[in-house]
Amino acid sequence: MNREDFNLLNNDIIYFDNGATTLKPHILIDSLADYYNNYSANAHRGDYDISLKVDAMYESTREKVRKFINAKTAKQIVFTCNTTDSINKVVFGYFKNYLKKGDEVLITVSEHASNILPWFELKDEIGINVNYIKLDSSHRVTMENVKSAITPNTKVISIAHVTNVVGDTRPIKEITHYAHKLGIKVLIDGAQSVPHKKIDVEDIDMDFLAFSAHKMCGPTGVGILYVKEELLNDIKPIIFGGGMNSYFEYDGKREYKEMPYNLEAGTPNIADVIAFGSVLNYLLKIGISNIEKTEKELKDYAIKRLKEIDNIIIYNEECDSGIITFNMKDIFSQDLAIYLNKYNICVRAGNHCAKILKGELGIKNTCRISFYFYNTKEEIDKLIKVLKNPNIYNEII
Ligand code: ALA
Repeated sequence: MNREDFNLLNNDIIYFDNGATTLKPHILIDSLADYYNNYSANAHRGDYDISLKVDAMYESTREKVRKFINAKTAKQIVFTCNTTDSINKVVFGYFKNYLKKGDEVLITVSEHASNILPWFELKDEIGINVNYIKLDSSHRVTMENVKSAITPNTKVISIAHVTNVVGDTRPIKEITHYAHKLGIKVLIDGAQSVPHKKIDVEDIDMDFLAFSAHKMCGPTGVGILYVKEELLNDIKPIIFGGGMNSYFEYDGKREYKEMPYNLEAGTPNIADVIAFGSVLNYLLKIGISNIEKTEKELKDYAIKRLKEIDNIIIYNEECDSGIITFNMKDIFSQDLAIYLNKYNICVRAGNHCAKILKGELGIKNTCRISFYFYNTKEEIDKLIKVLKNPNIYNEII
């Protein structure tokens, strides 16, 4: 779908690394050029036309994000640098004050580094415990395992909606509703889900949601943090400076702005936020359900075809996202990725920043294919042909 919108797809490249970042459509580049050429003023600081235009465009992206995830108000949408930044803002701006020594945070071994390391840091700082919800034999989170992991000390569940290595979708609505009955807060890492499926934050009712623009055809350097309305006054800034204060005095008296501005210190990433607004329009025009359906078809087709290959090991056949994690027997995953690169096929190899999942998978490194709506069955056929190459072992060695 929409392949003509992506310059890189004219280059005979097969791009299967959309979990890392997606390709960028012309509309993004046009929108960036428009800002830099025609109204490149600062935001929230000027009283002249081009600056007022910036304010309107910047805030209109916030409104588009609000609608995209069905948040109640635009105040609940904070622009950050990326998902990692969003999660850090929650962990250190909210949970550092909310949690006490001995309180427990539940995560899983398949979380991305960005949803593990901030918790380890907080553990060292204030003495919380970080424990794990067990995964089932297909590396999935089940409600049963969530329930059995919860203890009287559990105060937070912090998990990805869709994981970036095995691509499993967690039952986040059920988890959130169950957790809330027990007074447990829920932070969702939506980096691998918001670009691919419809997310309704009101329906799911999570307390915090983090995701990145660059994984959904948007620019790098823009993350989003959604905060539940009732917590707006409780999340505090962890970065201080211009733009986030109402006043400060010689003697240190000061007042910070309300959400979301108190969490957006300094000149924001204006051009990219504005351009992300154009990209959201673009994605809505394609239709999120079309994106999800296309990826599912591609994934099912790819699994069927990959199974034709004798030496393939697929780790997540049952997952319901557009992510396939695999290896070829006796080939180091990175060597396979380098081999595929010779044929202009881009996949990611390694541990994919989920470094403690290796115990579950029984292997440290894998190759990962991750689809987006512009991928095609013809591209999958080319991949299969290259993997079926009878000389593959010779070419790699
Ligand atoms: N988190 C990104 C990935 O999974 C970078 O590749």
